[in-house]
Amino acid sequence: MAEMGFERSWYSFVLLASLVLATAELATAQTSPNRTVVEEVTGWLRIYSDGTVERLTPPGAEAFTAIVPPYKNPRGGVTVHDITTDRGIDVRLYLPAAAAAKAPHRRRRPVLLHLHGGGFCVTRPSWAIYHNFYAPLAAELDVAGIVSVYLPLAPEHRLPAAIDAGHAALLWFRDVARSRNVYGAAHSALVRHFRRTADFSRVFLIGDSSGGNLVHLVAARAGEDKPGVLHPVRLAGGVLLHPGFAREQKSRSELENPPSMFLAPEMIEKLLALGLPMGVNRDSPYTSPELATKAVAHVRMPPLLLMAAEKDLLHDPQVDYGKAMEHAGKKVTTVVSRGDVAHVFYLNFFAVKTDQLTANRTKELVHTIKCFIDQH
Ligand SMILES: *[C@@H]1O[C@H](CO)[C@@H](O)[C@H](O)[C@H]1NC(C)=O
Ligand SMILES: *[C@@H]1O[C@H](CO)[C@@H](O)[C@H](O)[C@H]1NC(C)=O
Repeated sequence: MAEMGFERSWYSFVLLASLVLATAELATAQTSPNRTVVEEVTGWLRIYSDGTVERLTPPGAEAFTAIVPPYKNPRGGVTVHDITTDRGIDVRLYLPAAAAAKAPHRRRRPVLLHLHGGGFCVTRPSWAIYHNFYAPLAAELDVAGIVSVYLPLAPEHRLPAAIDAGHAALLWFRDVARSRNVYGAAHSALVRHFRRTADFSRVFLIGDSSGGNLVHLVAARAGEDKPGVLHPVRLAGGVLLHPGFAREQKSRSELENPPSMFLAPEMIEKLLALGLPMGVNRDSPYTSPELATKAVAHVRMPPLLLMAAEKDLLHDPQVDYGKAMEHAGKKVTTVVSRGDVAHVFYLNFFAVKTDQLTANRTKELVHTIKCFIDQH
């Protein structure tokens, strides 16, 4: 156990050291005399006085932000494809090779719609950090595929842009389900195959961190659609993995839990401030557990699986969200990963490989997701 704890602290140390380095570099990064940094989220994002936004990789985190190009020959039983839809969004499709082989003889399978994290401001579905979790997940689950949306990023595209994009992906599913001829020629064979194997009456939303908030927000948007708008697409469930719920007043877990590889207090404050609509703060239906719940009081929501982690800075508001939703009569199953595991620990593929506790908790998390999907 002591050794395992060391592995985790070591990665945290690398990240913290990187953040210090990134700050030191900042002073020399300005080339134009008139261009100054007006906002900075250490290691991740810089905004300049001329309005340009620069997205960075904290030194030491390169392995996580490395782009994994799509591939057509199965690796670990999965192929990966980037598709431009005619709904104004690009998506990454993880396709289990098994589904291809057995498709004609087997029942149709559910579809996962993935909404990535990054505080609404950073990260891409093509990054290794997502690929290394979601590609194996596509093979592990009995699904037709996992579709991950290239979400518009703030501050250029503040909320509700990402909610619109998530909803656009549902409309794309609807188009694919309803018609044979709505997608671009470049991917038509692929999409036709997806169409044949997918059960669009069993679409599950899944999201990490701020993507977890989007699971709630996109489900709410779909719940407000006029009846039949999405038909035959139906939301069968939502999986919120360590969602980014937070209030203006810091919760106890924010004050007491240590910062981790993927979440520091500065990121909660600054990324959410840049991601929320202008003039809106964390005490809003986008991030407050209570106000998010209140906003869907009269909206039909699918059953939800809420996963939290004991050492996540946002553990308390996450659990509060589950309680508030349940109190409001919504179906929510809350599962907390116990022990020294923090925000989106399952995405840290180094720790999953080297740390027994992280490996165990990740296996349990995947099992919990699998059971939830099989049951809905
Ligand atoms: C910098 O600002 C000054 C004064 O506004 C202006 O005259 C000059 O052209 C600017 N230089 C650049 C490189 O934009
Ligand atoms: C991880 O799971 C294995 C197998 O169930 C168990 O033997 C081991 O004690 C667990 N380790 C930790 C750190 O949880």
